Amino acid sequence: MKGNTSVVPVLFRMNAGVGVKVARTFYQIAKAHLFPKRNFGCNHFKNLGLVYIKPTGECNQRCVMCGQYGEKGIMKNCAPEERKKTLSLETWKKFVDQIVPQKPTVYVWGGEPFLYPDLMPLCKYMIQKGLVVSVNTNGTLMEKHAEQIVRDKWSSLFVSLDAFRDVNDQLRGKGSYDKVIAGIKAISAEKKRQKSRYPVLGIVTVVTNKNYMDLANLAEASREYGINLHIYNLGTYTNDNIVATQKRFMKEKLDTEIDCLESYNTGYNQGIDGEKLYKILRDIQENNYGHPILTVPTLNPEKTHTYYAELETPVRNHCAVPWCQANVNYNGDVHFCADYTDYIIGNINEQSFKDIVNGDRANRFRKAIQECDGGMFPGCLRCYQNMLFGRKIKGF
Ligand SMILES: C[S@@+](CC[C@H](N)C(=O)[O-])C[C@H]1O[C@@H](n2cnc3c(N)ncnc32)[C@H](O)[C@@H]1O
Ligand code: SF4
Repeated sequence: MKGNTSVVPVLFRMNAGVGVKVARTFYQIAKAHLFPKRNFGCNHFKNLGLVYIKPTGECNQRCVMCGQYGEKGIMKNCAPEERKKTLSLETWKKFVDQIVPQKPTVYVWGGEPFLYPDLMPLCKYMIQKGLVVSVNTNGTLMEKHAEQIVRDKWSSLFVSLDAFRDVNDQLRGKGSYDKVIAGIKAISAEKKRQKSRYPVLGIVTVVTNKNYMDLANLAEASREYGINLHIYNLGTYTNDNIVATQKRFMKEKLDTEIDCLESYNTGYNQGIDGEKLYKILRDIQENNYGHPILTVPTLNPEKTHTYYAELETPVRNHCAVPWCQANVNYNGDVHFCADYTDYIIGNINEQSFKDIVNGDRANRFRKAIQECDGGMFPGCLRCYQNMLFGRKIKGF
């Protein structure tokens, strides 16, 4: 299967402007792996390659496997007044001004980003400042913004779709497939009408035991979507033992009580026949649906079964995230891990982003991860960021 960096030449061909800027992000990530990871007294801010922002914590869907609003989702227990918190457009703009000199890729996600009322002006501002802006959305609210998304030249748009109509809607909510397809078609039509290559348009599919047998149907339907890329995310999973070990570890080393990891203890990995799944993905990759196919992580085919059946077997290690990335939450809290928000390194309402990224709490986290076996916390065995930015373990 093709590796993540294979997306760079694809981007170059589709859109050289975005390709060059994304290559810089990959360079920062490679640097984080290559050079000794220094902690205190080091300016980590200048190495930022990727910044995630979550303009809203709210969502209009309840996708079953989601760590935020799914069956075990952490946001479900969050008080409504807390999850309704947002930062003003002015606050986000001031934040953007701080990161512009480092030119990171900005990955906008949520919750559902289209529920943030000022998403359009915020993205426009970031693009005008020369940043690569990639938005990840459930796609149900984007149709009416298609004209402006293309006009404002969003760099890329990743729309979540987990299967063809019926199965997708069982997982993501009734009627969602048709809304998403209407949105995708509207963007594709606008790109043609405005003769624009922006945004690079992709689908992201999370593979679970509920949809893996239906992936070929979605791939077949995707011929008609006019997309540029299809990413199969093999999924974030954990189990009781990993959660208990990580809880103990975080309490002992970082004095932090954690809740987020449990939300990925869903069991949606169970019963996946790795051999069947590998064949399905291989057939999809070999077929020409008119756009490239990637999997995250890329795995040795023989290890597909291990990925789902043996969650305690590492497939990636030496997580690079704390040395080149950070995530800003809807309330201004900053943390390294996008999905595991328990350890907060600061808040952009109180400190500059540079001071947060170079601060003592950030360095304590880096030191703790560095001291772990394989440069990875015990709870990160199937973390999506580690699957993308960890080091491939030989044989996997
Ligand atoms: C949490 S969502 C937020 C953005 C937006 N609401 C959406 O659905 O695209 C970000 C991505 O995480 C994916 N996701 C949800 N549950 C997941 C899981 N258990 N493992 C891995 N990815 C998951 C979603 O499908 C989506 O592509
Ligand atoms: S739309 Fe996104 S954030 Fe909302 S429940 Fe689904 S995966 Fe989670």
